[in-house]
Amino acid sequence: MLRKRLPIFASRNQLLFLVENFQTAVVVGATGSGKTTQLPQYLFEEKWGTQGIIACSQPRRIAVTSVAARVAEEMKVPLGREVGYAVRFDDVSSDATKIKFMTDGILFREALLDPLLSKYSVVMIDEAHERSLYTDIMLGILKKIMKKRAELRVIISSATLDAQVFKEFFNFNPTPSDTSKDTSIIVSIEGRTFPVDIQFLKTPCSDYVNEAVEVALQIHKHESEGDILIFMTGKEEVDVVVSTLNDLAKRFLSSDLFSNNTHNLEPSTKTSARSLRAVPIYGGLTIEEQSQAFDAMPDGIRKVVVSTNIAEASVTIDGIVYVIDCGLVKIKAYNPTTAMESLIVVPLSKAAALQRAGRAGRTRPGKCFRLYTEKSYGEFRDNSIPEMQRSNLVSVILQLKAMGIDNVLRFDFLSPPSAESMAKALELLYSLKALDDYGRLTMPFGLQLAEFPVDPSLGAMLLNSHGFKCAEETLSIAAVLTVQNVFISPSNARLDAEEERRKFCVEEGDHITYLNVYNAFIKNKQSQQWCQRRFVNYKALLRAVAIRKQLEKYMKKFEVDIRSCRGDTVAVRKAIVSGYFAQAAKLQPDGSYVTLRERTVCYIHPTSVLFNRSPGYVVFNEVLQTDRTWIRDVSVIDDPKWLTEVASHFYEFKK
Ligand code: CDP
Ligand code: MG
Repeated sequence: MLRKRLPIFASRNQLLFLVENFQTAVVVGATGSGKTTQLPQYLFEEKWGTQGIIACSQPRRIAVTSVAARVAEEMKVPLGREVGYAVRFDDVSSDATKIKFMTDGILFREALLDPLLSKYSVVMIDEAHERSLYTDIMLGILKKIMKKRAELRVIISSATLDAQVFKEFFNFNPTPSDTSKDTSIIVSIEGRTFPVDIQFLKTPCSDYVNEAVEVALQIHKHESEGDILIFMTGKEEVDVVVSTLNDLAKRFLSSDLFSNNTHNLEPSTKTSARSLRAVPIYGGLTIEEQSQAFDAMPDGIRKVVVSTNIAEASVTIDGIVYVIDCGLVKIKAYNPTTAMESLIVVPLSKAAALQRAGRAGRTRPGKCFRLYTEKSYGEFRDNSIPEMQRSNLVSVILQLKAMGIDNVLRFDFLSPPSAESMAKALELLYSLKALDDYGRLTMPFGLQLAEFPVDPSLGAMLLNSHGFKCAEETLSIAAVLTVQNVFISPSNARLDAEEERRKFCVEEGDHITYLNVYNAFIKNKQSQQWCQRRFVNYKALLRAVAIRKQLEKYMKKFEVDIRSCRGDTVAVRKAIVSGYFAQAAKLQPDGSYVTLRERTVCYIHPTSVLFNRSPGYVVFNEVLQTDRTWIRDVSVIDDPKWLTEVASHFYEFKK
């Protein structure tokens, strides 16, 4: 039986004993040791599923779905029965579910509806070392719950050695000098890990995407058997590396493609794999698409998995012997001065670089090729910054308020966010009318906004569309905004795609354009052929239809009148402004824009229909940070009075 071969199996009885006797167990073990897939099963076998459900939370959606599928398979039950999962807009669980995997965000939502999490007997917060926003919040919430529910068991699992902070955070021992009264404990799982030989670049490279391809080919040519895992920063890069490698692999057998040897690979070792195949893995893939990365290749083919940060710890891929690490990671960053949250690419932390290298030493000694110099490594920070300290806190604070935690400044944060970020969030919530003059949640609006499983600005746009009589339209727009990337532009048909896209575009901006696409999709009976012809993303639109249904359910529950404004795009844009007034910008003489409140210079992104059109005032949803600050999903504000109409206090503050 394979389950017994995992490193965690040796600790099974000890783990169960400690869970029985301590309120909190902090489980530390290398990635792949079996924490996520085995621990919930051990608890289930020990009957922890009879008094309640065993919850296991993950920071990433993709980990939730892949792990749930794996555990259901190991237990030989259909997914959704004893083993289920829940991610936003997708709940595959039932009354029979005893082990439930979910994102940490979903667990937090459950705590909103059931403040003591009374359905659960054990809550396992997995991948705690990632320190995601909702993981951190859940730690604080669980601490509160445990004071009222002594029988609740909490397991914190971490792939790195930073366990002490978690142990101390959860230790309710009133007499710290007497450790026999500790309520929390650390368990380390002895992993089987093999040494990893780490190689740095001698001189910095200018293009890590090309360098990664080059190094993969060299490994393939000179090194012995074993799969390769490449870390890139985002989906676009992953796709480029995958297609470049696969194109080259086609020509591989007949020619010798590589000559320069920057990594001093030993030319003597003969590889037994004759060809190679690259497969992607990143957050946006469906379960079927992901499975390619996990499946073994036919004999003689070397697998190259090209991944975003997600394979660093969230998912385990067997058979990896070589790791190529670009040394960068894409993270969310929030700047309280500009009130903008954006995605930026930054150098890794040393802890993360170590974790990535470790992926190579799981089955036998491996090698890690770092696409940066030892000197740059020396400049990496030791640990990554918790997401809590680099996020927009609007959602979190709204939900804490809805849980009755009025004084959010005094909430027990493992790493408290800056007072400035909290103040910004409170101010926006007040302007959205979710909080009253005393900082209390407004009824019913504030509470509905907290319950809505979307960003508060999007939620406000939807709830306010009642007054503008355009809920039909805003629902469709919200659904499309949630799925993103409805237009496709294949490299072999760029111009055709561009021409088709132009037919949907309207001068009011991206939102009305999305609405046109959505409506045309419905009018054409959700036809896949139609999507192909018009270069729009069939799967994304199908998902938008499903999401729209879910959002509509909430709207009905909140008794919002679902009406259509029949083409009155002013009404629709006013509804958008009523949620996104804080994200408004004014045209400058040089063609750039400046946000109205914080006066940040920004530019309309080239993918927007308003690119190069220069309307006087705009409202936008998203910020993308590169060398410039780009705004995306942009609509025209015909008259700046719209802003004072819907958010008088927000814009009068300033004066
Ligand atoms: O959580 P942790 O990183 O400690 O390990 P895990 O995710 O429970 O994985 C344990 C083992 O299960 C891995 O070594 C994989 O061999 C296998 N696994 C898999 O094959 N497919 C999955 N979707 C998840 C795990
Ligand atoms: Mg895990």
